[in-house]
Amino acid sequence: HPPEPCVIVIFGAAGDLTKRLLLPALYNLKQSNLLPPEFAIIGVAHTPMSQDDFRSKLAQDIRQFATIPVDVNVWQPLEQKLYYLAGEFNSDDTYHRLQDLLTQVDQDCGTKGNYLFYLATGSNFFGDIITQLGAAGLVREDKDHWRRVIIEKPFGHDLDSARALNKSIGAVLQEKQIYRIDHYLGKETVQNILVFRFGNGLFEPIWNREHIDHVQITVAETVGVEGRGNFYEGTGTVRDMVQNHLFQLLAMIAMEPPISFSADEVRDEKSKLLKSIIPLTAEDVQQFAVRGQYAAGMVKDTQVPAYRAEPRVASDSTTETYAALKLNIDNWRWAGVPFYLRTGKRLAKRVTEIAIQFKQVPSLLFRQTSIARLTPNFLTIRIQPQEGIHLQFGAKVPGPAMAMDAVKMGFCYTDYFGTIPSTGYETLLYDCMIGDATLFQRADNVELGWRVVTPILEAWTTTSPENFPNYVSGSWGPSAADDLLVRDGRQWHKTD
Ligand code: BG6
Repeated sequence: HPPEPCVIVIFGAAGDLTKRLLLPALYNLKQSNLLPPEFAIIGVAHTPMSQDDFRSKLAQDIRQFATIPVDVNVWQPLEQKLYYLAGEFNSDDTYHRLQDLLTQVDQDCGTKGNYLFYLATGSNFFGDIITQLGAAGLVREDKDHWRRVIIEKPFGHDLDSARALNKSIGAVLQEKQIYRIDHYLGKETVQNILVFRFGNGLFEPIWNREHIDHVQITVAETVGVEGRGNFYEGTGTVRDMVQNHLFQLLAMIAMEPPISFSADEVRDEKSKLLKSIIPLTAEDVQQFAVRGQYAAGMVKDTQVPAYRAEPRVASDSTTETYAALKLNIDNWRWAGVPFYLRTGKRLAKRVTEIAIQFKQVPSLLFRQTSIARLTPNFLTIRIQPQEGIHLQFGAKVPGPAMAMDAVKMGFCYTDYFGTIPSTGYETLLYDCMIGDATLFQRADNVELGWRVVTPILEAWTTTSPENFPNYVSGSWGPSAADDLLVRDGRQWHKTD
């Protein structure tokens, strides 16, 4: 069903996120009839632009970035609902004018005073925008009007700044009005982890330390920093990817079953899981955390420059573009089961995958036979691309001799459901409009993520990596990341 009438106000409407993801997602929602008939979008940005210019800019953008062919009959009515306001995010005047515009839009479009503010700006503006919205009375709810705020990442820069930001926005908004976004939670395949685990009787009984040897989470990208050098220099992979996206995957894979699918029950379980990750000490960081930075190389047959040669990156930068970690979870289900996480830019291929390795059989019957390859049972959950789930097991090679080899049983999304033409933001925008925060991060979830990575970041600032750049673009990252597993008699699962 379409949500209640509302206006979406996008701060940072002239930026990349709006044109690449938010606009295509809103278009897809419109196409699926999941926007309310009484609806409008107000873009706010500091770029001077008239309303007509804004409409024609977005009309061009949608043609470039839509995930499905654009139908004018769907686009035209949406275009009529686009408004634009040029202004500085920290000036009172912007918010007075926004208030007037919202009153006018409510009258013109019948949007009934329900507002969703989307903060698609640099993270340095989050606190100011919310304070200003509060001062202008724009986020005050009553029984007839809802007011919600979606906050993009990065949410804070470390544990202290995340706490400070939670505190300052908490002075203006109630927690139920705050939607901290992590776009990985909008991915169908990520949500499917919960269905796979808790909607099937087969897997959950073996989902523990008795049967699982270890878990690997890989988020490999082929792209570099894509002109975001300025942002990336002060951020790095741990803040950009690990604290949020990888920890969300980890929580979905490892959390206990919630007692219901309500927002707080799910987020309680995630918090419990994140709380049971054993934080690394400065000494552990030397052993169990690996950082890397890419050198020039070939990615998909194209020569690409080193990170240090990217625009707006220091020629002696020590920012990491790769990170691998070994983490342990101190609870009854997972004690003694290592979780290996890795993510990086300019790697050999784009793949996000979770690989679960099961324990070997207790006694090997086939010791005397010719074993072509005895490999452990692996369950791989492929988040992107070629979304699917595969189970690897041993099978007898046909013939008179008793020989074994590894074979795979597989499920591909496309075989059953066709392609998924969504951006991931559709679900998240829709959920926010209907007031369902299950797929958004609560204040404690974010802070618990920072609690784990902050000691790593701190340990890394006190020692500079003397060997940067330490991996060639187009490779699988620094050799130290392989050693992290080899030391434990394991290796990174090869992605097909
Ligand atoms: C973003 C990061 O949050 O996620 C980017 O800021 C990264 O650096 C991107 O490239 C990856 O998202 P996806 O959906 O392409 O896996």
